[in-house]
Amino acid sequence: MKTPILAFTALLSLMASAAKYSVSSKPFGEVDGNPVELYTFTNESGASVSITNYGGTVTSLIVPDQHGKLGDVVLGFDTVAEYVEKSPYFGCITGRYANRIAKGKFKIDGKEYTVATNNEPNHLHGGLKGFDKKIWKARIGNRGNTPSLTLTYTSPDGEEGYPGALSTTVTYTWTQNNALRIRYKATTDKPTVLNLTNHSYFNLAGAGSKTVLDHNLQINADRYNPIDATSIPTGIAPVKGTPFDFNKSTRIGDRIEQKDEQLQNGIGYDHNYVLKDKRDEKLAVAAIVTEPDSGRVLTVSTTEPGIQFYSGNFLDGPKGKGGKEYPHRSALCLESQTFPDSPNQKTFPSPILRPGETYTQTTIYKLSTSK
Ligand code: GLA
Repeated sequence: MKTPILAFTALLSLMASAAKYSVSSKPFGEVDGNPVELYTFTNESGASVSITNYGGTVTSLIVPDQHGKLGDVVLGFDTVAEYVEKSPYFGCITGRYANRIAKGKFKIDGKEYTVATNNEPNHLHGGLKGFDKKIWKARIGNRGNTPSLTLTYTSPDGEEGYPGALSTTVTYTWTQNNALRIRYKATTDKPTVLNLTNHSYFNLAGAGSKTVLDHNLQINADRYNPIDATSIPTGIAPVKGTPFDFNKSTRIGDRIEQKDEQLQNGIGYDHNYVLKDKRDEKLAVAAIVTEPDSGRVLTVSTTEPGIQFYSGNFLDGPKGKGGKEYPHRSALCLESQTFPDSPNQKTFPSPILRPGETYTQTTIYKLSTSK
């Protein structure tokens, strides 16, 4: 008798929790004459995430501070037109190859491929019209009784120079405890290279607040990829004794101005970290960010072997949501990924996906407060 009663009770509570979400969608303008939508998922506490199917872009993430006051912690724009016109990859899905490929060239099985050098002299974030600029097919679903948004896009063989038709699915889930879970899946019909991530820009004091130099950061990594003058990794090096050691939670501003060749004399952090214990591809905490005034905490977990820490070095004050300006270093990105330029670096994990294989990656951005 016990089992059916328990099952029935569990079912009731699941139904109740499902009812505590609200999911809505509304038109978000047009791109090249095609309508795009904005989907909003609000959980029981009133915290919400909004995502458009243009670029699979997270446009807002509204979560409480330590006093329960809701605030938007990601940078973005109010209209899709502004994303098209000037977005520095705010909140988007980045692909097919997030980050850089040196000189826009790579080989698979001896055959050379050329992709756009849109970040001279290198390829960046999938090229001229990467996944951030595509309109994805959207479907609202339900994962374990949590509403989700599933986005799909099939990139044709040869698009942006990449081989193979690539079928890509990205599923966003917003949980009751303020975690944004992103699951990526892809298959190909020819050997290809792949590196998918999300490019959200966070400011835990609220988008449009001052710099993130007072945010504290912890990264679970003993090693990172030093870079050359064009931001291409030159190998793998220990962080110990350098301004790159974030094993202990450290204020971002503490060392950013240090005379250090890798900080490119004042430009800042824009490096991949080699995450600890990632051989088994299990979900593990990669980084924790805390912001003292709001008490907000961001915990990033991922199945990926690396994470790019970018300190908003190239933000130059664009006007974003509600007319707020986004000054230099007023946000940070933590982009879970395979290592930059892996197609050309034999010592890095392979970024090659072959027919019959399925690429998967999961990353969770969990927001909480320290009190
Ligand atoms: C990534 C790169 C940076 C920069 C931003 C977008 O984080 O590593 O160099 O291109 O994207 O501006």
